[in-house]
Amino acid sequence: MDQPDGPSTARMIDYWLGGRHHRPVDVAAAAAFEAAYGPCAAIFRSLRGFLGRSVRAMADEGVDGFLVFGAGVPTCGNVHEVAPEATVLYTDVDPETVRLGQRLLAGSDRAGYGYGDATDTGTVDRAQLHRFVPGWGRRPVGVVFLGLAAFLDDDTLARTLDELYQAVAPGSRLAIDFDSEELAGHPQALAMMGPAFRMRAPDRFAPLLGRWRPTDDGVVPVARWRLEGEPEQVPDAFYGALALRPAD
Ligand SMILES: C[S@@+](CC[C@H](N)C(=O)[O-])C[C@H]1O[C@@H](n2cnc3c(N)ncnc32)[C@H](O)[C@@H]1O
Repeated sequence: MDQPDGPSTARMIDYWLGGRHHRPVDVAAAAAFEAAYGPCAAIFRSLRGFLGRSVRAMADEGVDGFLVFGAGVPTCGNVHEVAPEATVLYTDVDPETVRLGQRLLAGSDRAGYGYGDATDTGTVDRAQLHRFVPGWGRRPVGVVFLGLAAFLDDDTLARTLDELYQAVAPGSRLAIDFDSEELAGHPQALAMMGPAFRMRAPDRFAPLLGRWRPTDDGVVPVARWRLEGEPEQVPDAFYGALALRPAD
């Protein structure tokens, strides 16, 4: 987890996306990471593009309530901006990120922000959950789980996804990504990600989805998921999928 006063991965992503909610310490950490790996802005724009296309796909199929885990900064094409007709509860474990999110969404009656540990949905405030994701557990909702799998070991990730599967109603959808083995060739950058960081090959990730059923798009590099227009020229750093809890 991010340390107080230290750089935050969520705010570093905000910097790479061209947002306004980061600090000098985040810019310095982003520069150090880029010195060890290479430019990151295009990679994170591509990941945010996947968020946009997968959330729109869910909304177009009738999903009108979203629960977002490991949400980071709720700007720059985040869920409530690409699905403005829906209601959205953003959650994160980092208290500073939660406070920032609450400040940015103050006054919104369609999107809220609260504490939530993805590995234990019981930590999400019930009143907020039922306000912003009405019908949770009774009608289909969208769960957004991006930038998070990389920080959970296989057993924890599989258990968490199975608990989510049981918690949501049939017809619910899950947008998820994971980190490929891209950083294996950049040991200095890999070390910066910390001991909890997990890279995965696609065939190692797919079984962790358990009962969630990926759409026919499969588990693919995010830049290629339902690509619209020209393919982006970015490394395949993130793979993603949209998955369904089928009707019982
Ligand atoms: C790499 S950032 C991704 C932010 C955002 N989802 C995005 O794609 O831009 C990961 C976020 O997950 C949060 N996080 C880490 N472990 C978590 C957990 N167990 N439950 C919920 N959030 C977690 C961190 O605090 C951080 O804000």
